[in-house]
Amino acid sequence: MSSNPATVSQALHWRYATKKFAPRAIPDATWAMLRESLALTPSSYNLQPWKLIAVENSAVRERLQTHSWNQGQITGASHLVVFARRTEITEADVDRLTQQITNVRGTPPEKLAAYRQMMVSGIVKGKGAQAQKDWASCQLYIALGQLMAVAAVLAIDTCPLEGIDPAKYDEVLDLKATGYETVVACALGYRSADDHYALAKKVRFATDEVVTKV
Ligand SMILES: Cc1cc2nc3c(=O)[nH]c(=O)nc-3n(C[C@H](O)[C@H](O)[C@H](O)COP(=O)(O)O)c2cc1C
Repeated sequence: MSSNPATVSQALHWRYATKKFAPRAIPDATWAMLRESLALTPSSYNLQPWKLIAVENSAVRERLQTHSWNQGQITGASHLVVFARRTEITEADVDRLTQQITNVRGTPPEKLAAYRQMMVSGIVKGKGAQAQKDWASCQLYIALGQLMAVAAVLAIDTCPLEGIDPAKYDEVLDLKATGYETVVACALGYRSADDHYALAKKVRFATDEVVTKV
C-alpha cells in the first residue's frame, strides 16, 4: 500500500472546481471506488450520520439544476452526489452502530455499553437540536473532502457545490420524511477542453502561513 508525494502533489494541483464537464462517463470500476470512498469515510464516534445520494435520473438532475443557481455541472457531469445529514441523532442511531460493531467484530453488546453511553451523553443528550445538525454537517464535509481527494488521485474531476437550495433539494429528492436533509453536493466527471478555469493558477495562502508549528 503506497503512493508517493510527487504523485499526490500532482493530483492535488491538477484538481480544480470544474465549471464545465465533458459529456463523458466515469467507468463503472472507477465509480465503484468513488462510491466506496464515501462509505469508508471516517466520522466522529463512527456514527456515520449521513445519506449519500447518487442522482442518476436525468429528469431529477434537471430539476435540481433549477435549484442550483442553474449551475451546468448538475446536469453536465457524469455523476452527481448529494450529501444529506441526519436531522437528529437518536439512541436508535447509536444502537444501529453498536449492533453493526457486534455484527462485524463479534463484540458482545455488554462490552459496548460504556461506548454506547458515551455517545448518548455526548451527542444524543449532550447536544441540542441545532448542535446535532451542525455536528452531522461537519462529518458530511469529511466525506466530501475524501471524495474529492480520492477523485483527484483517480484523475476524476469534481465540483463541490454549496450553491444549491437545500430545502428544494429535499423536496425534489423526497427526503422530507426520511430523517435526512441536504447540505451540499458534488459533481464528478471529466473537465471540458474549453473550461478555461482549468488553466487558472491555484490561489492559496502559503503553506507556512496556513500550517504553523509550535
Ligand atoms: C464546500 C464548497 C462549496 C463550493 N460551492 C461551489 C459552487 O456552488 N459552485 C462552484 O462553481 N464552485 C463551488 N466551490 C468551489 C470553490 O470556489 C473552489 O473550491 C475554491 O475557489 C478553490 O479553488 P479550486 O477548488 O479550483 O482549487 C465550492 C467549494 C467548496 C469546498
